[in-house]
Amino acid sequence: MATIKEVAKKAGVSVATVSRVLNNKGYVHEDTRKAVNLAIKELGYKPNSVARSLYKKTSKTIGFLIPDITNPFFPQLVRAVEDVMYPAGYTTILFNSDENLEHELEYIEGMTSKYIDGFIVVSNTLQWEHLQGIHVPIVALDRHIDKRISSVTIDNYAGGKEAIEFMMKQGCTQIAHLEGPDHVFTSMERKRAYVDMMNDHDLPILCQQGHYELGQGMVSTMQLLSNHPQIDGIFAGNDVMAIGALKAAAKLGIEVPKELSVMGFDGVEWGTAVTPELTTMQQPIYEMGKRAAELLLGQIQDSPSQVEHQRLHTTLKIRQSVQ
Ligand code: RIB
Repeated sequence: MATIKEVAKKAGVSVATVSRVLNNKGYVHEDTRKAVNLAIKELGYKPNSVARSLYKKTSKTIGFLIPDITNPFFPQLVRAVEDVMYPAGYTTILFNSDENLEHELEYIEGMTSKYIDGFIVVSNTLQWEHLQGIHVPIVALDRHIDKRISSVTIDNYAGGKEAIEFMMKQGCTQIAHLEGPDHVFTSMERKRAYVDMMNDHDLPILCQQGHYELGQGMVSTMQLLSNHPQIDGIFAGNDVMAIGALKAAAKLGIEVPKELSVMGFDGVEWGTAVTPELTTMQQPIYEMGKRAAELLLGQIQDSPSQVEHQRLHTTLKIRQSVQ
């Protein structure tokens, strides 16, 4: 592998001149530039990206921090972000945080020292005080962090209310809720919508924790249906738990939607792979990721730029799991 010194020797110039040509910085006579570029071509020299990062204090790389890639909601976000960043010449480095603040801070500190150009974060643990010292753009996705940090989110409360209104319109009167992690904003808002709707209609509040997980969603549904056989509808805080609820109903020999309606939230494609196909509140997942990446790219290229908070809408996706 040719070095910058060999290029300089072959072109008859200093290493500093070669560096100016490579980084298009400072004055270089046209004949000198041609000689350096000829030497680069003849030697097949490839600039060292780490060295370039150190020199330019930029790496054409962004960090994308998500809770857990095994949840089918997140791969669609990642796909959308890469579809924006890659054509713009940026590499995306993914990190699974498991909602662990210590891990998140280690990742951000480590990537910042490598001249990362910006971050997209899906987090409910990072707060302003953790991020205010980071001098590259940050965009919060799916979960709002602070008014001083741009964000792309949906209206979880409105989506939750619309889901339950539909279940009631279809005849459900004893609705239980599979809730997500109690410190996560999105699950808290969906639960708040459920509780308000039950209170508004003088209906019992029946909640069980499902941690946004398939297995826990199934176990919690078994518990709910065993303890409250009158339940005729389950509103799950995400599709993964709703699929767990379908598994529980099948185990108990309960027919969906004839005897029990099941409603999800997210609109991941697995909802169409189960029987009956899942009725759900569809999030514009790809659009959310695309918007967040476009916001970040704009801030990297035109920093400093205005903080922007974009809130997108959910869409009721009627399939077969609600009566
Ligand atoms: O399914 C994972 C959930 O976590 C989604 O509903 C998304 O909104 C994120 O908060």
